Amino acid sequence: MHFSLLLSLLLPGITSSYNIVDDFSGLDFFDRWDFYGNYDNLTLGDVVWLDEPTAFEQELALVNAAGNVIIKVDNFSNVPFNQKRNSVRITTQSSYDLGSLWVIDLVHLPFGCSVWPSIWTLGPDWPNGGEIDIIEGINLMPSNQYALHTTPGCIHTTPPTQTGNSTLVDCSQPSGCLVGELAPNSFQSGFAAADGGVYAAQFDYTGIFIWFWTRSNVPPSIVGSTPTSSIDLSDWGPPSASYVNTSCPIEQFFGPQKMVIDITLCGEWAGIPADYQQACAGAGPTGICYNDNVVGSGANYNDAYFEIKSVRTYTTAVPGPSAGVALGGKSNGSGSAFEIWWPWLLAGMMLTMM
Ligand SMILES: *[C@@H]1O[C@H](CO)[C@@H](O)[C@H](O)[C@H]1NC(C)=O
Ligand SMILES: *[C@@H]1O[C@H](CO)[C@@H](O)[C@H](O)[C@H]1NC(C)=O
Ligand SMILES: *[C@@H]1O[C@H](CO)[C@@H](O)[C@H](O)[C@H]1NC(C)=O
Ligand SMILES: *[C@@H]1O[C@H](CO)[C@@H](O)[C@H](O)[C@H]1NC(C)=O
Ligand SMILES: *[C@@H]1O[C@H](CO)[C@@H](O)[C@H](O)[C@H]1NC(C)=O
Repeated sequence: MHFSLLLSLLLPGITSSYNIVDDFSGLDFFDRWDFYGNYDNLTLGDVVWLDEPTAFEQELALVNAAGNVIIKVDNFSNVPFNQKRNSVRITTQSSYDLGSLWVIDLVHLPFGCSVWPSIWTLGPDWPNGGEIDIIEGINLMPSNQYALHTTPGCIHTTPPTQTGNSTLVDCSQPSGCLVGELAPNSFQSGFAAADGGVYAAQFDYTGIFIWFWTRSNVPPSIVGSTPTSSIDLSDWGPPSASYVNTSCPIEQFFGPQKMVIDITLCGEWAGIPADYQQACAGAGPTGICYNDNVVGSGANYNDAYFEIKSVRTYTTAVPGPSAGVALGGKSNGSGSAFEIWWPWLLAGMMLTMM
């Protein structure tokens, strides 16, 4: 039996303690992110992702009176036909290796016809380093969708512990291996009305696991966490999406990940006529994503913003001299957890012998 599995059977949750690496929140939030500073040449959306000074000047990236971070689409400029609308795409300067955990607490997600927001991670030399889509949706989709994107060979076999709805299983296909969130209020106006909630993703050599909790269900371990505290996953329950390593060796398909937060408009997914018209055919006179939304006053983008309380990153690495490893170094959960938890193992062995 695997060492940490043995431990977790004996002492549930003990092996799942993570140490804080970064707390991104409030006025310091943007300090360690890079702004894209170019039009969307990646997903071909009709936006210019501003550079940092312009994003601050135009107040598309800001911290509001509540101390929450706002990342938004321009909803105040008149955009003439054939021009793009301003938005924001930011990427962490740090990379996060196996053994990392991300916890994202938000009160509002961008939504509306043509709007395509995402909070996701990507490895080096895409798609070789892999991609993890934690929050993503388009147009009027009522719920969130998770996906991995990889080179061929990573398959998502649905484990019994997953609460989400698996649709596509081959992670190398263009849509990735999709899992739909089934819990209510994971996206759109429902998410906002419920005062948002928390998404979390665990990036481990045993698998990639993603959770969502609406505000009223956020577990005590997260509610009680602080910018400096460690966190224990033992009250988290089963993940919504569970990509176990048996049919997808995580180490083979995923390199160190950087996190990206972005909003684009139309483009390769939200703007595909079939996808767009299915939800938004009645949103404007032409039935075309760009014409009916991007062009004009921008008054239809009042809900196209993220409002983020915090993004926290964690690692399983042992505190002390080796603690820096999560910032691009190799941190490997289960190995290093031994150093912290060996006294508990002894206790566990004694329990089994009794
Ligand atoms: C997108 O634009 C940036 C900045 O000009 C450039 O460095 C990058 O190579 C472009 N990417 C693609 C896929 O065209
Ligand atoms: C799961 O996804 C499939 C394909 O998108 C859909 O037809 C089905 O209704 C979904 N199931 C639930 C319970 O939402
Ligand atoms: C997959 O995870 C299991 C524990 O669940 C571990 O024993 C095994 O070594 C891992 N395999 C790979 C290829 O990482
Ligand atoms: C833009 O949207 C925000 C809400 O996200 C709203 O407070 C503001 O009034 C809107 N601006 C304009 C010019 O409508
Ligand atoms: C993580 O640990 C496992 C077993 O303890 C080992 O097989 C694997 O090579 C390690 N991975 C890294 C990235 O150090």
